[in-house]
Amino acid sequence: MCGIVAYIGKEEAFPIILKGLKRLEYRGYDSSGVALLNGDIKLYKKQGKVSVLEEYTAAKSREAKVGIGHTRWATHGAPNDINAHPHLSGDGNLAIIHNGIIENYDALKKELISRGHKFISDTDTEVLIHLIEDVYRNASVGLDEAVRLALGEVIGAYAIVILDKKNPNRLIAAKNSSPLVIGVGEDEFFIASDATPIIEYTKNVVYLDDEEIATIELGEDVKINTIKNQSITPYIQELEMNLEAIEKGGYDHFMLKEIYEQPQSIKNSMLGRLKMKSGKITLSGIEEFESKFLNAKRIVFVACGTSWHSALVGEYMIEEVARIPVEVEYASEFRYRNPIINEDDIVIAISQSGETADTLAALEIAKKKGATIYGICNVVGSSIARATDAGSYTHAGPEIGVASTKAFTAQITILALMALTLAKKKGTVNKTYYQSLINQLIEIPKLVEKALKTDDQIKYLSEMFKDAHNFLYLGRGFNFPVALEGALKLKEISYIHAEGYPAAEMKHGPIALIDENMPVVAIATRKGSYQKVVSNIQEVKARNGKVIGIVTEGDQTVKEMVDFVVEIPETDEFFDPLITVIPLQLLAYHIAVLRACNVDQPRNLAKSVTVE
Ligand code: G6P
Repeated sequence: MCGIVAYIGKEEAFPIILKGLKRLEYRGYDSSGVALLNGDIKLYKKQGKVSVLEEYTAAKSREAKVGIGHTRWATHGAPNDINAHPHLSGDGNLAIIHNGIIENYDALKKELISRGHKFISDTDTEVLIHLIEDVYRNASVGLDEAVRLALGEVIGAYAIVILDKKNPNRLIAAKNSSPLVIGVGEDEFFIASDATPIIEYTKNVVYLDDEEIATIELGEDVKINTIKNQSITPYIQELEMNLEAIEKGGYDHFMLKEIYEQPQSIKNSMLGRLKMKSGKITLSGIEEFESKFLNAKRIVFVACGTSWHSALVGEYMIEEVARIPVEVEYASEFRYRNPIINEDDIVIAISQSGETADTLAALEIAKKKGATIYGICNVVGSSIARATDAGSYTHAGPEIGVASTKAFTAQITILALMALTLAKKKGTVNKTYYQSLINQLIEIPKLVEKALKTDDQIKYLSEMFKDAHNFLYLGRGFNFPVALEGALKLKEISYIHAEGYPAAEMKHGPIALIDENMPVVAIATRKGSYQKVVSNIQEVKARNGKVIGIVTEGDQTVKEMVDFVVEIPETDEFFDPLITVIPLQLLAYHIAVLRACNVDQPRNLAKSVTVE
């Protein structure tokens, strides 16, 4: 959701903050702002993208060695200049930036108003800084202690940084549920929602844990205290990320770069886990909890968005070869419906960001009920990764485009490794089939590379379909979740209404929508339910729908039947989603570009959904 960047040190703060905000803009982009401290606090806030703030401040005084900046995804109050962060305390001495939601802000606000506080914005964040100011003024304690006491009264999620006019050498940061990381340089500190704004300055970082408050003071070590007043020794760790990974590298958009990175990111997901020669798979998290996995009565996936789609693929994979019953749950539903979870269940949270609030809450519930909690996350050190008993990082590298692409295929790669390793250990798969799946898995990066060669053809198709108002995506078996994912991609970035359906379900409703204007993308690869999908395609054609068939190379049957075919390389249906999703990602991308949509930052969406 919102992005936080702060700097304190010997350099000019504004350029560092601005660059950081641009890197974090994928988190929220409806307004942004900075507070710079140089004697006085200079507050600049603007509705719109960070570039609007940049222009607005160009002729203004921006010199300061300390400052805080924010890019917002509105929760409380419309996205406008006033509601943009930072917010000031009543006396103007404190400024705050905040990511998260203060749930009891209304009660706190009423109480503060009764004590004479006046508010100018609609935000929960302004209430928080007034609360801190109130405690600071009345309790005669230091600001760090006032922050601690005030946060004790707060219910909700927050990552905050506070700037104090009276103490230009110090920033105070705190977190609960929303992520926050502190970069430790030489005589300088950086604070951000994730490591991307920090990486070019220092690799040494401290990830704050929930309910921790950090006092960051020039010339001192970072001090951490908990809300319960326990002092914690900061753990400085080294970032593995590199700068190149977070830049566009010659592509027009992050999304296109990330689509093209998939042959490599899939390889990275397998690296060190799959021994090419022997076919042995080692997932350390599974080794560690081997008996739990082998005796599990059930595996339950919790996830949201694209990660939920890869969980569905995981269900097909695990049930197919490892014969463990699997359920796939929307984290947001699971957490509020008193789910039945037992100690011999394994609950697997899948999340690219590792910060999705609903997924995090769902796994906490499952944890309380005694299940073993496993994580499949991309962002190293993220909240979900840290809350699990064990897990496997996807190692796809930073994903910046809001619409997820390489994280999806990386998650599926991990799920394939997981299904195969469990199948082998449980003896539920025959040796020859296991070996043939391993051989095919090794080939997947090359096949993805081949599938990417459909790019020009897809661009051509995109020209033809860019003005469509609706799209239907059909798939069966392993390709049913891919149909959902293809439709989601198109919706997210081109704003065309699209629905994914298990092909056979079409006749129970969506078939009523089919006419000569309705494009239908049918995934009809040769394995699995091919014949059944062919029948479904015939049903669409009989009603004059326009069909784009995603078919196995060389297929003639579907080619003769449909309007266009996109041929992709053949693999076992088990791995089909890793290949069939590629043309669908490209289709969404090109249509969005042709419609002049902001591909990397689609309206109303956020990359990291840290509110429920
Ligand atoms: C947001 C993103 C999606 C993502 C979903 C789940 O909606 O825009 O791309 O799939 O959150 O995110 P996660 O980080 O948990 O995978």
